[in-house]
Amino acid sequence: MLVILSLFFALLFDNVARFCVEAQLTVDFYNATCPNVDAIVRHTIETLTNQSNVVPPSTLRLLVHDCFVEGCDGSILISSTSNNTAERDAEDNVSFPQIAFDAIIQVKKAVEAACPGVVSCADILAMVARDAVNLTGGPSWDVAKGRKDGLISQASRVGGRLPGSNFNVTQLIENFAEVNLTAEDMVILSGGHTIGFSHCLQFTDRLYNFTGRINSTDPSMNATFTETLKEACPQFATNQAKVQAFDITTAFSFDNAYYQNLQSGKGLLFSDQVLFSDNRTRTLVEKLANSKEAFFARFVPAMIKMSSIGIKSKTDGEIRQDCTRFNS
Ligand code: HEM
Ligand SMILES: *[C@@H]1O[C@H](CO)[C@@H](O)[C@H](O)[C@H]1NC(C)=O
Ligand SMILES: *[C@@H]1O[C@H](CO)[C@@H](O)[C@H](O)[C@H]1NC(C)=O
Ligand SMILES: *[C@@H]1O[C@H](CO)[C@@H](O)[C@H](O)[C@H]1NC(C)=O
Ligand SMILES: *[C@@H]1O[C@H](CO)[C@@H](O)[C@H](O)[C@H]1NC(C)=O
Ligand SMILES: *[C@@H]1O[C@H](CO)[C@@H](O)[C@H](O)[C@H]1NC(C)=O
Ligand SMILES: *[C@@H]1O[C@H](CO)[C@@H](O)[C@H](O)[C@H]1NC(C)=O
Ligand SMILES: *[C@@H]1O[C@H](CO)[C@@H](O)[C@H](O)[C@H]1NC(C)=O
Ligand SMILES: *[C@@H]1O[C@H](CO)[C@@H](O)[C@H](O)[C@H]1NC(C)=O
Ligand SMILES: *[C@@H]1O[C@H](CO)[C@@H](O)[C@H](O)[C@H]1NC(C)=O
Ligand SMILES: *[C@@H]1O[C@H](CO)[C@@H](O)[C@H](O)[C@H]1NC(C)=O
Ligand SMILES: *[C@@H]1O[C@H](CO)[C@@H](O)[C@H](O)[C@H]1NC(C)=O
Repeated sequence: MLVILSLFFALLFDNVARFCVEAQLTVDFYNATCPNVDAIVRHTIETLTNQSNVVPPSTLRLLVHDCFVEGCDGSILISSTSNNTAERDAEDNVSFPQIAFDAIIQVKKAVEAACPGVVSCADILAMVARDAVNLTGGPSWDVAKGRKDGLISQASRVGGRLPGSNFNVTQLIENFAEVNLTAEDMVILSGGHTIGFSHCLQFTDRLYNFTGRINSTDPSMNATFTETLKEACPQFATNQAKVQAFDITTAFSFDNAYYQNLQSGKGLLFSDQVLFSDNRTRTLVEKLANSKEAFFARFVPAMIKMSSIGIKSKTDGEIRQDCTRFNS
């Protein structure tokens, strides 16, 4: 009797465990079906990065936008069609450079050549972001895999889910909490702004119209920095394509200079500088500014956490053949 009973429970728990594991991510996920996937991704993105240094920052940002909207499910990669305006075409006119999407398409092509129909675009995005960080001088980590690609990508569903460049710390904390990330995660992940660029539009109000007052400037900005930015982004400019480096000291290097810049009033966006101005987050900014090792050590788990927001499973996802289109 006891034997039968324990057998019954063993089977029950085994099934429960199997069920729970369904949507879980593992580093070994493609061991049997695509054992070299990490190396293929790394090699391809390294080749593309050698051709253009825009590739790492733009693809890292792709992951953020993917994960914050519908979860990390490749929804940002879907192209709009005549009957669907996709996520990537939402909001303003400062969306992603085509080169970011092209990079993912190239990586998918290389992966498909080795193991067709096996690796999701969502997993590719997570691996590419890992390599983007490492190729610019940052740490590396094992990417757990097994994400399915989502079946929804709509511009109309983006609204309010992404953090805004004019957000204060309260708004940033609330925004990150919506995807189960903490205030600390928020400060640490903001360090992603140690590489890449922003369009002038995202911070010109700080230069010329702070808190809606014409010709007033954000007083938390370093005066020298303000002058530099005013030169780069003139008040009545018509060129909407102009950009400025987030990290004025080392724009292409993944380091902790982002936090040191905040200490001297050289955060580019309002949402960057407030992390130092607000005493709820300043202590952590100072810690990360003081130690690149500490930043790296804390950035890795935060990225792993962000990369596992809202994972889709077999029932609500698929392995896309073409990252820019749903399979059917
Ligand atoms: C904390 C809230 C965040 C806000 C308000 C924010 C906002 C922005 C804005 C406005 C841009 C410029 C877009 C453009 O003008 O083209 C940008 C770019 C970028 N963001 Fe964020 N972001 C946030 C968090 C993150 C996180 C968590 C990461 C990565 C871990 C990240 C990585 C990047 C990168 C690498 C770029 C540069 C993209 C490029 O050069 O193409 N951001 N972000
Ligand atoms: C997957 O492959 C790696 C490297 O070859 C190996 O260390 C690991 O034990 C394998 N895992 C499984 C579950 O087979
Ligand atoms: C990229 O460039 C670096 C530095 O020049 C070089 O060492 C590396 O082999 C290149 N990688 C690829 C995949 O071409
Ligand atoms: C939407 O348009 C695509 C081509 O642009 C077409 O393949 C698809 O069947 C259309 N879907 C619906 C629901 O109309
Ligand atoms: C985006 O561009 C369109 C047309 O090019 C323009 O009408 C619109 O005002 C722009 N939006 C923003 C936020 O700049
Ligand atoms: C990239 O990651 C590897 C570990 O995979 C590490 O040894 C290396 O130091 C990293 N690159 C940089 C520039 O830190
Ligand atoms: C943050 O912004 C919100 C919305 O504008 C505002 O209600 C709130 O008072 C601000 N909080 C802080 C701490 O500045
Ligand atoms: C956040 O956590 C809650 C509670 O565990 C869960 O219901 C929700 O789906 C999570 N949200 C995301 C975006 O992961
Ligand atoms: C200045 O900011 C206010 C409030 O944010 C906005 O309504 C107004 O259009 C801005 N003016 C200019 C010239 O950008
Ligand atoms: C704002 O500054 C510009 C450039 O210096 C000047 O042309 C404009 O008259 C000023 N506007 C106001 C309302 O002070
Ligand atoms: C502002 O920037 C200048 C020049 O980079 C620097 O020397 C100065 O210390 C900064 N001011 C503050 C308050 O950090
Ligand atoms: C931040 O400053 C406010 C007002 O000066 C103070 O009440 C609060 O205790 C401080 N919080 C922290 C975490 O230092």
